[in-house]
Amino acid sequence: MDGMEREDDRRLVAEVRARGQGHVFRFWDAISPEGRRRLLDQLASVDFDQIDSLVRNLVDEGPHRAILERDVRPPDVIPLPRSPVEREERARARREGEVLLAQGRVAVMTVAGGQGTRLGFDAPKGMFPIGPVTDRSLFRIHAEKILATGRRHGRPLLWLLLTSDATHAPTVEAFEQEGFFGLEREDVHFLPQRMMPSVDLEGALLLAEKDAISMSPNGHGGALLALRERGGLDRMRERGADLLFYHQVDNPTVPVPDPVMLGYHGHAGAEMSSKVVEKTDPNEKVGVLAQVAGRTRVIEYSDLPQAMAEARDTDGRLLFRAGSIAVHVFGRSFVERLTEGGLSLPFHVARKAIPHVDADGRKIEPERKNGIKFETFVFDALPEARVTVSQEVDRREEFAPVKNAEGEDSPATARRLLADLYGRWLRAAGVEVPFDAEGHVVGSAEISPLFALDQEECVAKLRGRGIRFHDTIVLAAPDA
Ligand code: UD1
Repeated sequence: MDGMEREDDRRLVAEVRARGQGHVFRFWDAISPEGRRRLLDQLASVDFDQIDSLVRNLVDEGPHRAILERDVRPPDVIPLPRSPVEREERARARREGEVLLAQGRVAVMTVAGGQGTRLGFDAPKGMFPIGPVTDRSLFRIHAEKILATGRRHGRPLLWLLLTSDATHAPTVEAFEQEGFFGLEREDVHFLPQRMMPSVDLEGALLLAEKDAISMSPNGHGGALLALRERGGLDRMRERGADLLFYHQVDNPTVPVPDPVMLGYHGHAGAEMSSKVVEKTDPNEKVGVLAQVAGRTRVIEYSDLPQAMAEARDTDGRLLFRAGSIAVHVFGRSFVERLTEGGLSLPFHVARKAIPHVDADGRKIEPERKNGIKFETFVFDALPEARVTVSQEVDRREEFAPVKNAEGEDSPATARRLLADLYGRWLRAAGVEVPFDAEGHVVGSAEISPLFALDQEECVAKLRGRGIRFHDTIVLAAPDA
């Protein structure tokens, strides 16, 4: 092969061929010197032992089926408070969480490395305009919550964002353009996750271009490894942060970070905690928490057998109703332990229609599943934790995921949920906001987290202000 001056390049090519993947050099003579370099650099990042073993052990059912044949029961969950005692417990958790925030012991991690294919939005999902009145982006909403929480407790928070090759550059650019949304630059760090090659159904590497193999992010489990490899854990250590509040970029209503959850986690001495909402539709696409052989786990919706999804308890509620909203708290030492010798989470296999270049150099956009992506899931860390806490929250308050372009879990449903949430805060503050029979605001409402982080703050700030609602209302930051 031409252009192979370096000894390590020659060794790499020999290894790739020995692994039966020599077809990736099919267009070598037709590609530029830069293209050759790119291909070699990509191949050098591939762990061929790992790929071989993943391909050898491909199983159709996913890793959970075997586990589910063992003893499975619903998990222990701290329910939504209904009695005065439970309300007081939640209030105590909040106070304890606020102490942790005031001590500067909390950092936030937002996972934003996914390709967001279902939403059909070209830019990173965090840039999606979701504010029901102002079109504030998801990134801005999270940023303002983090800024306001830091101000409230007198300790700016460290914010770690998981990015990937697909989202890194445009994400950094968006933050630059928006002046880091008012945050200090040194408080924000982007952690690019590792990429994994995609293979065809026989295990052969797919080419995305003549000079590039097809790669995709290694799943949000990669967040844990990125924390170690990209300096996230070091930064936490330097600042004395020993707790990590983890959430997904796609949910604008969850409090980021939530003192109540931090308080429960700290009180129990937990290593990993989770938030759940009550699942009422057996086919809702959320993972469910379960106790499997005595360990807490999330069973992903695609792995949950239909009979389990539909099973009901004596009250007629779903037995496995603890729907994960993918919000967790991690102890830093737990993440350190999990990533000591590399990432120990299992890979899940996703069969997908993967665009690629065929043997004749043509670009193919397949309609059927032609290949496999390998991903790790962060919640697979749960069974490794010595102590876990699971807390139920109200989905109307904390779960407005933006997944699909239309229909359920879409921008339209998320905007509605946001407007309704703000409408309820306003009503609590004495503003006459009209609601229809389904509990939706007639009109729209939006409150910047810099104006109020929660209903209590909203009520305190609006008391005696005599605000009137006409069709829409926007409460901005005091200095905006
Ligand atoms: C996810 C959870 C599901 C949960 C639901 C709640 C998984 C596999 N399932 O479903 O249990 O009930 O959210 O909304 O996660 N991401 C990365 N890097 C990656 C892959 C994903 O950063 O390599 C990020 C995405 O940017 C996104 C989040 O992880 O913020 C979720 O990924 P997605 O694939 O959308 O998961 P869901 O199927 O929606």
